[in-house]
Amino acid sequence: MSVGTVSVALKNAAKTIGEGPHWDDKNQTLYYVDILSGVVASWKPATGEESQIKLDNPLSLVVPSTKGDFIVSLGRKLVRLDWEKQEVTSVLAEVDQGTKNRFNDGKCDPSGRLWAGTMGYETVPAQPERQMGSLFSLSTGCTLAKHVDKIDISNGLAWSNDNTIMYYIDSVPRKVYAFDFDINAGAISNQRTAIDFNTQPEGGLKEHGFPDGMCIDVEGKLWVACYKAGKVVRFDPVTAKQIQEVTFPAERITSCCFGGPNLDELYVTSGVQGCTEEELKNEQALAGSVFKVTGLGVKGTPCQNFQG
Ligand code: BGC
Ligand code: CA
Repeated sequence: MSVGTVSVALKNAAKTIGEGPHWDDKNQTLYYVDILSGVVASWKPATGEESQIKLDNPLSLVVPSTKGDFIVSLGRKLVRLDWEKQEVTSVLAEVDQGTKNRFNDGKCDPSGRLWAGTMGYETVPAQPERQMGSLFSLSTGCTLAKHVDKIDISNGLAWSNDNTIMYYIDSVPRKVYAFDFDINAGAISNQRTAIDFNTQPEGGLKEHGFPDGMCIDVEGKLWVACYKAGKVVRFDPVTAKQIQEVTFPAERITSCCFGGPNLDELYVTSGVQGCTEEELKNEQALAGSVFKVTGLGVKGTPCQNFQG
């Protein structure tokens, strides 16, 4: 049974792949990206104020920094963006040289260090060049480290509320992994599978799709966007069991984050890429929209900004 009340917050906001929702608690503003359009966007629900910047590369993540600018990924690079000037001011890192890879999801851990991963070149959604991606971290002093390789589509990230576990999704094998997490060292170890979409009771592609972005709530439960299944599913990562689900009028659900004044609203992004013209006129007419879910009865943990 679907829980919560779903509404359309920003209709057809993304033209390609809506992604990377980040709720900035301080400014009560939602940031998100439209990956293949190279667009980074902001929206302040209280005033309706919207702003967009178009850059000329795939752009898959946006995180405000304590310096007042933003860290975004552009293709295989992590850069600083000055929103006012609409200008990239410096390149912090470049990865996967000599490949057609691009960055995909990224997020800051509770100490404000950025984690972001890459994926191989993709012509058909969820069918990239295999095992080309890796997971990296960027320290607050801007030192880059590589942690995992042979990833298909590096995707959702979340940290347990006691900061001892990092959850990480590779979409193609359909797995949510867990690692022991050392917040001081910025190190991960002891990789295991927390949730295997293939072994869920009705684990078919139609039922659960591909795990994509995710976030965590104050009860330590994971909210996982199910790409191609039109859902966000709440899982208990300890038992690997599904607890709740929210269904959406768009199939390609890509990511979610908690936001709103009380951090109890779920903002959910979706993609257009891969839908046929026919689908976009009919059952997928809301593809690319940002949705808002209320009435879930649980709060999320705040999105972290980059502390550097
Ligand atoms: C990627 C898409 C991919 C999808 C599959 C997204 O995070 O940006 O390129 O098709 O995941 O789950
Ligand atoms: Ca994603």
